[in-house]
Amino acid sequence: MTGYFITLEGIDGSGKTTHLGFLKEMLSSIGFRVVLTREPGGTALGEKIREILLDPSTRGMDPMTEVLLYNAARSQLVKEVIQPALQRGLVVLSERFADSTIAYQGYGLGLPVDIVRSVNGVACNGVYPDLTLLFDLDVEIARARILKKVPDRVECRDVDYYRRVREGYLTIAGEETHRVKIIDASQAIEEVRRRATQAVLDFVRVHSPSRSKERDDSPSS
Ligand code: TMP
Repeated sequence: MTGYFITLEGIDGSGKTTHLGFLKEMLSSIGFRVVLTREPGGTALGEKIREILLDPSTRGMDPMTEVLLYNAARSQLVKEVIQPALQRGLVVLSERFADSTIAYQGYGLGLPVDIVRSVNGVACNGVYPDLTLLFDLDVEIARARILKKVPDRVECRDVDYYRRVREGYLTIAGEETHRVKIIDASQAIEEVRRRATQAVLDFVRVHSPSRSKERDDSPSS
């Protein structure tokens, strides 16, 4: 039995984190065992790499060094957490995964996307999300949210950078419509939550029909 791998993606300030815990509870309520994780991080080693990557005092990091560090953390996470959980039939719910590297380092920093994809491929070790929720939000609105706290090294980048990252995400979503579901994160929080829940339930309905009957928020059913 293999589980499902669900990722939450979006630019900083798009509100992903707010919905992670709720989605976990919803999936647990219909009988799934769920593991929550995040990138970069999710393992002791990965959290140390995260500190280096997000520390505003880390200066002059080469874009390819970034790709390799995100993927070093990813490789550890895949082997230590994601693959074992999927093999045990659990649902892994991750805040960010390989799409972040394509959007932030590929589209955002301008590295060739095919090279970023191939480095990602080494770290992913055959693991690929079954479903991705892309929380899409206007860059200016997201930025206003970020600037309410002290920005980390990535968040210090300018609006144009975040525009490229957002466009990158939307390009990925356009290329992989079967996997990536766009959630309009400009809506009220309850509505964003409802849409995110619905997208997950639609996925579950197709892949685990018996479980989805236990809780069904679909207006069409
Ligand atoms: P977050 O966990 O608070 O979203 O912070 C992670 C930051 O790292 C966020 O700004 C996005 C960035 N990031 C990349 O640039 N590339 C990646 O591959 C990943 C996973 C994250």
